[in-house]
Amino acid sequence: MNVIHSTPFTDAILARGLTKSFGVTRVLAGIDLTVPTGSLLALLGPNGSGKTTTVRILTTLLAPDGGTATVGGHDVAREGVAVRRVIGLTSQQATVDDLLTGRENLELFAGLYRLGRRQARRRAAELLERFDLAAAANRRVATYSGGMRRRLDLAASMVSAPRILFLDEPTTGLDPRSRAELWAVIRELLASGTTILLTTQYLEEADQLADRVVVINDGRVVADDSPAALKRQVGAERLVLRLSRAEDVPRAVVALGGTALGEACEVTLAVQSPDHLRQALDLLHGAGVGVEHVELRTPTLDDVFFELTAAAA
Ligand SMILES: Nc1ncnc2c1ncn2[C@@H]1O[C@H](COP(=O)(O)OP(=O)(O)O)[C@@H](O)[C@H]1O
Ligand SMILES: [Mg+2]
Repeated sequence: MNVIHSTPFTDAILARGLTKSFGVTRVLAGIDLTVPTGSLLALLGPNGSGKTTTVRILTTLLAPDGGTATVGGHDVAREGVAVRRVIGLTSQQATVDDLLTGRENLELFAGLYRLGRRQARRRAAELLERFDLAAAANRRVATYSGGMRRRLDLAASMVSAPRILFLDEPTTGLDPRSRAELWAVIRELLASGTTILLTTQYLEEADQLADRVVVINDGRVVADDSPAALKRQVGAERLVLRLSRAEDVPRAVVALGGTALGEACEVTLAVQSPDHLRQALDLLHGAGVGVEHVELRTPTLDDVFFELTAAAA
């Protein structure tokens, strides 16, 4: 568990009241976040909620309209050069060149950081090994799988050995296996002392990797908590019940005590334990509601928002 201090020396990233509008559209309406050195913060939010805009401000690619931020102890507005010296960024768009091999790409990046030829070769070889790409090093990136590309993107952002790394939706669009492989690499980076701010649309990803989760919606922070606390609030699993008769849905929702969500011929309920599950089925049976199909699934970002807004209401 991380103890949160608020000095620039223990907080690798500190943002207060960040605002940003594009034209008349307010995209960030006052974002606060703190990332202690050596920890991973997941910035969790749906598409269009302002994740990339926040990352672009913290990596000096975009000036905020208001608020302040320091990264590695340096002010993003006034000390851009110093900030850029300590950070790495893997953006949503691939930065690597399809026509080059993995090795050539990394050597190119090393050149951009003004490493000498021999040093660049050594750094590229090291990173290919570390990100499990050594066997594919001499193949063109065009032949890589989605997961291999993301690992190469990540390797490219680690060429300068940054202390603070920004990963903007690193696993979106990857299959479950590639996602798990990338998680392993991210855990290693964290274990080696890198501070990481990662954006994601997946609650499960935040749960797997993060010390702390900041949930944003419409450019506002709607939750800032540990994954465990967020999970306690959201519930461990979702029980999805398909009813035999759609007209039973309102009755089922009432029978389950108002915490259930009814839609079409389905009722969804957060369940905390097997006992709770059995109890729910008993209640429906008692109310004479026929259940046709039962399914358990892990909670999604939609469930988080439902719980957060239900709690606020
Ligand atoms: N350069 C820009 N000009 C105008 N609108 C933008 C620009 N960048 C982002 N937006 C808008 O800001 C909102 C938030 O975008 P973004 O930060 O990319 O969200 P996310 O990364 O969470 O999907 C979206 O509605 C997007 O269309
Ligand atoms: Mg984005």
